[in-house]
Amino acid sequence: MFATNKDLMLPAMRKGYAVGAFNISNLESLSAVVDAAIEEKSPVIIAVTPSSIKYAGLAYIGKMVKTAAKLAPVPMSLHLDHGKDMETVSNCIDAGFTSVMIDGSHLKLKGNIALTKSIVDLAHPKGVSVEAELGRLTGVEESTVKEKEAILTDPDGAKAFIERTGVDALAVAIGTSHGAYKFKGKPKLDFERLKHIRKKISIPLVLHGASSVPSWITEKAVKHGAELGGAKGIPEEHLRTAIALGIAKINIDTDLRLAFTATVREFFVISPEIFDPRKILGSAKGAMKEIVKSKMRLFGSSGKAL
Ligand code: G3H
Ligand code: 13P
Ligand code: ZN
Repeated sequence: MFATNKDLMLPAMRKGYAVGAFNISNLESLSAVVDAAIEEKSPVIIAVTPSSIKYAGLAYIGKMVKTAAKLAPVPMSLHLDHGKDMETVSNCIDAGFTSVMIDGSHLKLKGNIALTKSIVDLAHPKGVSVEAELGRLTGVEESTVKEKEAILTDPDGAKAFIERTGVDALAVAIGTSHGAYKFKGKPKLDFERLKHIRKKISIPLVLHGASSVPSWITEKAVKHGAELGGAKGIPEEHLRTAIALGIAKINIDTDLRLAFTATVREFFVISPEIFDPRKILGSAKGAMKEIVKSKMRLFGSSGKAL
């Protein structure tokens, strides 16, 4: 059944768990995520970026996810991840997306507020929920205190931002970043900042760049030829802490990409005689499904769709 992100995040925020937002770009990744949600009885957010829309086609994505939502007995939203402009957002809403993210984090504060507010004005009358981002998701390990202040989300700024825009959820920058190379040294997030943000604002908070980059997956990929030296993600313990401090939505893309790649690489080595794409992609789909299921258990959303 279809829901908005707001419908899924508010109960999560109240009850102290997080809903996973998993990036998909084709039928295999979609059905891995949906099958996991059904088996775990978990609410789920299907996230699609502009580059995945370019890859798969907006009409295909919209229809595939609508079909999944109709068939699956769990609440599910179709969410635009990192939308950057009004045209993309508007096209996604027309295609049936139930939630959108407008990412104005590359703009100056004034521009981010103006763009976000214009998206809220478009989306809310249509029943579509809106996530925005304040601060930048970039590695901060080697930054000075002053540089960190400019990059990470400012709690007072966050309060003013949500009052002026009316967004339903806010993605915060506390030291995570996208991709497989999040830290050179020991993984460290700014939990004190997260605590202060939580105290100042009452809407659901979102953690992007939250893949854990498990070593058992990278080792499997490397064993079969991948080059992933130095890959490092967010430890699961840090994600538990983030949820306890108020994160209600957690975005995962990289771990699914790694699971896909490691499994396909291994498949080609173990079964060189097989050339049926359904068997090759079927093995990758199974691996992605297992990753999603383990995230749902970690985030505490398993069993919450009952
Ligand atoms: O932020 C989301 C992704 O990890 C980056 O996705 O390569 O589809 O733009 P993309
Ligand atoms: P990862 O790259 O850590 O999976 O983050 C994904 C994300 O934030 C998508 O919006
Ligand atoms: Zn993101």
